[in-house]
Amino acid sequence: PKTNVFDLTIKKVGLAPDGFSRILSTINGQYPGPTIEVNKGDRVIINVHNELGEPTAIHSHGIFQRGTPWFDGAIGQTQCGIPDNYIFTYDYTVSDQFGTYWYHSHATTQYVDGIVGALIIHDPDDPYITEYDEEIIVMLTDYHHVESQILLESFFTPASEGEEVFPDNGLINGKNNFNCSQAPPGSTCVDNAGLAKFVFIPKKSYRLRIINTSAFSSFFFSIDKHEMEVIEVEGSYTKRNKIHRLPINVAQRYSVIVTANQPVDNYVMRSEFQKTCMPDEASKLPVITAIVHYDGAPEDSAPKDAPWKDFLEECIDLDHKTLQPLYEEKVPEATKEMELVIAFHNDSLGIVKAFLNESTYVPNIYSPSLLKAFAGQIYDLPPARNAFIFDNFGEVVDISFINTDEGEHPFHIHGHQFWVLGTGNGTIVDKDALNKVNPIKRDTSTIPAKGWMVFRFVADNPGVFGIHCHMICYRSISLLSIFIFLINF
Ligand code: C2O
Repeated sequence: PKTNVFDLTIKKVGLAPDGFSRILSTINGQYPGPTIEVNKGDRVIINVHNELGEPTAIHSHGIFQRGTPWFDGAIGQTQCGIPDNYIFTYDYTVSDQFGTYWYHSHATTQYVDGIVGALIIHDPDDPYITEYDEEIIVMLTDYHHVESQILLESFFTPASEGEEVFPDNGLINGKNNFNCSQAPPGSTCVDNAGLAKFVFIPKKSYRLRIINTSAFSSFFFSIDKHEMEVIEVEGSYTKRNKIHRLPINVAQRYSVIVTANQPVDNYVMRSEFQKTCMPDEASKLPVITAIVHYDGAPEDSAPKDAPWKDFLEECIDLDHKTLQPLYEEKVPEATKEMELVIAFHNDSLGIVKAFLNESTYVPNIYSPSLLKAFAGQIYDLPPARNAFIFDNFGEVVDISFINTDEGEHPFHIHGHQFWVLGTGNGTIVDKDALNKVNPIKRDTSTIPAKGWMVFRFVADNPGVFGIHCHMICYRSISLLSIFIFLINF
């Protein structure tokens, strides 16, 4: 194993990823931030130089932090914010993990303003390694032209009625065009800022590592005329799964293999907003595109538009229920069962908030839960904060989520992966439909709108770890958050 050192300087810079100028929070002046790329078993040292003008913290999304829960990067949960003009060093070992991850600020809504990057752990024992020639990182995101604190403030008013803020655009690897005639007067905007371009060598195969870093949006990802084969989800190898389009929700990651087996030409890579739970205006949202350019194709000819659904009788979208682990493992029996009900309703000020079992979590940024746990104070936490304490090492926990909301919710667990035992419609869990034989293990899974999900995880990682909806309004204020405490350090 190697020790890899990364220096990340966080600061605000004026940029125009889609031609519209705004202030972004950048890492080393770039957006998205630099890729952290290491090998299985490596030690990762991240020196965060905070020049943002406000506190920040960096979370390595999906990393277990075994033995180092204090480096999980969650403000109010595992650490205080790194003050402005301070350096903080994260230092962890990725032990037996591999696959596609990302890192992002876990302070307020900062990641929406740009503090994101890919985190890749290469696996020398990758069973698919002979099937691709190169790797390509593809980061998808919705994109807003105003700073996220302004978005958030408008969300948390009675006037919003709990309707999520509507994105202005979307980006692939930090690029896209924007029609400047839609920009508000007085803004600085240039048309045709340029699309991301991926060069394919004819006949070669590529492992695309697709990461959705959105604030709110779920996408359908595809490349015209090219089938994809799913091989990994969030650190788990899957059996091959041939598809045309990949639905990918906030904070989820997939690896797919794509072969450059089409005639030499330019093709459209597309990321379509899944509009089901968006307001009607959403029909105005563009399809986010990038260019797949075969080496030898004309440089300046625009790719022809050929979305799968226009010419296929049956366009196969990935159905997450068909994901199967490549290596089957025995799933342990549950030793504890819990039910968590997601509901949205007005608080006393008339502001729509999210509740988990009727409590809405408020992070205590001055007194992080992990530090309280070390001080032996965990039983002092008010019950309204959804703190769950597991003091049996290795407890096997089933959580049944009941989602009474009209929107779906991508739920993420820190410090662990969970087996997705089942999802379904309606507010009654169908216990007979649960898959305990070969469920997929991941760290971010979507609870359907007006539906349920059951996941199982093993509480064997001492620390304080959140489970939360990753959509930014709920994550940042940590609405819909719970905590796992394991106190037998
Ligand atoms: Cu991607 Cu709590 O984080």
